[in-house]
Amino acid sequence: MSTVNANLTYNYKVVRQFAIMTVVWGIVGMALGVLIAAQLVWPSLNLDLPWTHFGRLRPLHTNAVIFGFGGSALFATSYYVVQRTCQARLFSDGMAAFTFWGWQAIIVSAAITLPLGITSAKEYAELEWPIDIAIAVVWVTYALVFFGTVMKRSTPHIYVANWFYGAFIITVAVLHIGNNMALPATAFKSYSAYAGVTDAMMQWWYGHNAVGFFLTAGFLGMMYYFVPKQANRPVYSYRLSIVHFWALITTYVWAGGHHLHYSALPDWAQTAGMIMSLILLAPSWGGMINGMMTLSGAWHKLRTDPILRFLVVSLSFYGMSTFEGPMMSIKTVNALSHNTDWTIGHVHSGALGWVAMISIGAVYHLVPKLWGVQAMYSTAMINVHFWLATVGTVLYIVAMWVNGIMQGLMWRAVNEDGTLTYSFVESLEASYPGYFVRFVGGAIFLAGMLIMAYNVYMTVRQKEAAAKDNAAVQAA
Ligand code: HEM
Ligand code: HEM
Repeated sequence: MSTVNANLTYNYKVVRQFAIMTVVWGIVGMALGVLIAAQLVWPSLNLDLPWTHFGRLRPLHTNAVIFGFGGSALFATSYYVVQRTCQARLFSDGMAAFTFWGWQAIIVSAAITLPLGITSAKEYAELEWPIDIAIAVVWVTYALVFFGTVMKRSTPHIYVANWFYGAFIITVAVLHIGNNMALPATAFKSYSAYAGVTDAMMQWWYGHNAVGFFLTAGFLGMMYYFVPKQANRPVYSYRLSIVHFWALITTYVWAGGHHLHYSALPDWAQTAGMIMSLILLAPSWGGMINGMMTLSGAWHKLRTDPILRFLVVSLSFYGMSTFEGPMMSIKTVNALSHNTDWTIGHVHSGALGWVAMISIGAVYHLVPKLWGVQAMYSTAMINVHFWLATVGTVLYIVAMWVNGIMQGLMWRAVNEDGTLTYSFVESLEASYPGYFVRFVGGAIFLAGMLIMAYNVYMTVRQKEAAAKDNAAVQAA
């Protein structure tokens, strides 16, 4: 807990808890990612057991990284940022603690039910109805804590980072409740309230906005606080940040149709999804440029500050994935990329390059402040982590681009008589080198996370050792 003025203390306990769990779930989720990447190279690692099969571990990976790792980073940073920028303590300590324990319990239930094969089979919304209800309760409590804090602020205006966090919290509530409407059949099985193509449309309205709000808007909130703080410069253009906000949130919600190209979804809805995705390039790049330009006059800091490097490189990957996404949403491009590893490469340039890197940078910024020490235990280790993360991400996405484009071309190649040139198995065989490189890239990224865990542990221990020394001196 830190004192700001005589009357105000912040609730850092919940921020510390979520910050630690960001690292823990990051390691668990990425280790699962490395395991499923290895299974695609060496299928015997499926162990011939249903619980350890790729099909069950894949959703466990996505839930652990998105909701465990990304979710904990979002809770930690939003609770920190809203208190600091509103100059107010969290609205309710009890409710904040409830969101921490509730969220962890939800991720643990995912880790139990998914390997058991209990799933609603909707991607990124696999958890069954009792867990869905728990998510809704925790999320509404989160909204009350966040907006309650904004309401009791002692600053005249609401800093832009809170706008992004706020939009993320509201939209995720609407998406989660909307897409998970279902009729329970038993305690662990339910059926979607929507049928056929409506179900698909709801699912990808949810799925795309999960990307747009869970994996983007919340992290943009992070960007608007931690980039200026770490660079020690004001945001490049506050006006651009407001334009960025409104343009991004109004465009994102219409783009989900690009996940259903050439499907039974009416053609006009697919085209609308494509057009809104192309428009989305502008606000995405507006935000990226605003973040990058915040460094004007401070670029030299990149030479000595690996935390700033994490934050800036994450913005480059954000720019890259939000250029690639609109391109992939063009129907003719999607005809090549859909169902291939290109999509997986796109996902991880956003997930590893943007989401993970900005979260890692934010946690390195936060940990010393939360535990009241000068700096992280080792800056050299942060630097090593930075290079492992960058090299790991690049290996991953390049391997998937090569695989994806090769697969797309092999699947559509036809002989003069109209028969297919390659069988599916031939395209799979040709993908093995790429799968191996992805496995290596993932393992390198994971190694960086392990170094981070050690660095965080030593920083916290340092603080505890200093506290013990002080107590001993006072007792003597
Ligand atoms: C302007 C921004 C973006 C646009 C227009 C966009 C567009 C697309 C398109 C067209 C696909 C392929 C759909 C398919 O063929 O099935 C896709 C897939 C995906 N994108 Fe993006 N993307 C954007 C940014 C991002 C970012 C920043 C992330 C991550 C942080 C991301 C995560 C994903 C995920 C997870 C999928 C896979 C969904 C699935 O099939 O499971 N996207 N995106
Ligand atoms: C060490 C790091 C990681 C490795 C090795 C890894 C590996 C994998 C693998 C092998 C898949 C399955 C691909 C397939 O079905 O062909 C996958 C899917 C996925 N991963 Fe990761 N991953 C990592 C980190 C992350 C992170 C940090 C996130 C999010 C923040 C993430 C989000 C996803 C998503 C959304 C999918 C599903 C993509 C789709 O359906 O199109 N991954 N990952």
